[in-house]
Amino acid sequence: MVGRIAVIGSNMVDLVTYVTRMPDRGETIEAPSFEMGHGGKGANQAVAAAKLGAEVLMVTKVGDDMFGDGTVANLQRFGIDTRHVEKVAGRSSGVAPIMVEPSGENSILIVKGANADLSPDDVEQAGDDLRGCDLILLQLEVPVETVYAALDFGRRHGIATLLNPAPALSTLDVARIASATFLVPNESELRILSSMPVDSLEEVEAAARSLMARGIGTVIVTLGSRGALLVEAGGSTPIPPVAVTPVDTTGAGDAFIGSFARYYVAERDVVAALHRAVRYAADSITRRGTQKAYATEAEFAVSHAPGS
Ligand code: RIB
Ligand code: NA
Repeated sequence: MVGRIAVIGSNMVDLVTYVTRMPDRGETIEAPSFEMGHGGKGANQAVAAAKLGAEVLMVTKVGDDMFGDGTVANLQRFGIDTRHVEKVAGRSSGVAPIMVEPSGENSILIVKGANADLSPDDVEQAGDDLRGCDLILLQLEVPVETVYAALDFGRRHGIATLLNPAPALSTLDVARIASATFLVPNESELRILSSMPVDSLEEVEAAARSLMARGIGTVIVTLGSRGALLVEAGGSTPIPPVAVTPVDTTGAGDAFIGSFARYYVAERDVVAALHRAVRYAADSITRRGTQKAYATEAEFAVSHAPGS
């Protein structure tokens, strides 16, 4: 079984400038290169899962500008079901101006555009198709009421849900995300959600458990170059990192979630799926861009073959 994944979330066009350093306020400096690519946390996660062979349905909104049609075509290129992708008249598409430093680290500005119009009603309208899915992926680049509605939809219909609380939102209501099957924050998102320190692995686990005490099923904390930590009711499991030389870390978290979702729905083995997700995300940061940096199933099989 491959499994069917739904993503209810954002799409953006990434405008990526590779800089030698960040400019100071009021300063003009020259940067060596620029690349445009398809991004947005929701679409990135959808594309990662689809590139790895999952069946994916995406619920999102694009603007009626030059980026909107390109975004739909891009999703379709990966075989993603776009029947619930709507074009909004008079709105821009979501865009993300990004600067990537020589270390591979990034700074991102997002303009939600049409993503800001994705509503709880859109979740209900996709309901018949969502009911056929094994897992619903959610992030925070669309209105939070829509995220709450999607979690509630999953709970009512017995469909597993995964919430990636990114970008961090201090006003996120933990009581309204309590039904999430999986919560996948990075350290700073975990700190903001739990209001607890996350400086050591023990603190990360305690912060995750404080959220589980409020109802969340399983917490998976992404730790960047330190791998990930799975925190479940019965115990916790560190997932070791895979060392690579970073070129562009943009979208690595999305690569992690899309690949985790793909392997989880197929095999229902959380730990095995996480080992693969750590490896897939590490591989993605060795190339520029987000979706275009994600390996296909065939490429990924080669890159993690024994001895490579
Ligand atoms: O998570 C990475 C993504 O965040 C980028 O593709 C950009 O679009 C922003 O939404
Ligand atoms: Na990358």
